[in-house]
Amino acid sequence: MVAVDGLVHTVPMGSEITDGEIVVSGLTKHYKQVRAVDGLSFTVKPGRVTGFLGPNGAGKTTTLRMVLNLVTPTAGTATIGGSRYADLAAPLQSVGAVLEASSAHKGRTGRNHLRVLCAAAGLPDTRADEVLELVGLAPAAKRKFKGYSLGMKQRLGIAAAMLGDPQVLILDEPANGLDPEGIRWMRDFLQALAKRGRTILVSSHLLSEMELLADDVVIIAAGRLVAQGSVEEIIGNASSVAKVRVRTPKPDALLAALTGATAERPEDGVLLLSGVTAEQVGDAALAAGVALHELVAEMPDLERVFLDLTAGKEAIR
Ligand SMILES: Nc1ncnc2c1ncn2[C@@H]1O[C@H](COP(=O)(O)OP(=O)(O)OP(=O)(O)O)[C@@H](O)[C@H]1O
Ligand SMILES: [Mg+2]
Repeated sequence: MVAVDGLVHTVPMGSEITDGEIVVSGLTKHYKQVRAVDGLSFTVKPGRVTGFLGPNGAGKTTTLRMVLNLVTPTAGTATIGGSRYADLAAPLQSVGAVLEASSAHKGRTGRNHLRVLCAAAGLPDTRADEVLELVGLAPAAKRKFKGYSLGMKQRLGIAAAMLGDPQVLILDEPANGLDPEGIRWMRDFLQALAKRGRTILVSSHLLSEMELLADDVVIIAAGRLVAQGSVEEIIGNASSVAKVRVRTPKPDALLAALTGATAERPEDGVLLLSGVTAEQVGDAALAAGVALHELVAEMPDLERVFLDLTAGKEAIR
């Protein structure tokens, strides 16, 4: 666990955001050549980490930039706690964002970089040391930014986003360039914040990492929503890719007793069945008097579901 407690209380909580839900409704961005985002609607709940997934060019960054009022939508709206970003009275205290590996003045130390941001935001400069501590960057506080590794820059970006102790944190591919230890740290950090009721929206193309990190996922392709739900729901609903593995001395008798199943035979005496549940296979085996030596429901991982759901949608447009 990350020591989030005790470090973030000197700044008053984001004033007008009460629940911190992000609601994206009919959001659209058409450029001359491309419909980057096309009628996209989804919600992001507080208290959960939501993964925002999609192939390269799907429209993730464009969507996040519209939520943050950095890109003007062609149509549709995005609200945070019921208000558009532009209407938030204290945006830094309401929403923290990490859009790309943070940039800072090369000759400035991490701490001075954050102090400048504190001054601009009207926060006490002691807050700089608090957030450096929060992201594990305190030992490098007095080193110059130009000497920071990519992972340290990512942490500095998160530190900057945390300055206002925001209710909502939006991160675009924050795991880029992090080593396994850094990725693990990020996961613990974001999950700890979600547990404290914060809204965490994080885009990524690292699906295996998302499966460990996210409670909910929003999957888009070619600017449109493909699926939204909890990781369990998304994986559970992907019945088309769920399989039942069964080992039996009488595979043919079992197959004959099953309706609607298609079977692969990866090895002797083993069937890999699609289109049926483990319960159906067990019941059919009992009714047919076929012994089962193994019966396993093989749930697909998020990566497999993702590839299945986004298959055939042009990635680079
Ligand atoms: N300013 C712009 N002008 C024209 N086209 C743009 C602009 N910004 C983005 N696009 C296009 O919009 C589409 C979506 O881009 P976006 O960066 O939102 O995708 P992404 O999902 O973030 O991709 P990645 O995983 O590669 O970061 C792409 O086809 C991109 O070329
Ligand atoms: Mg992007």
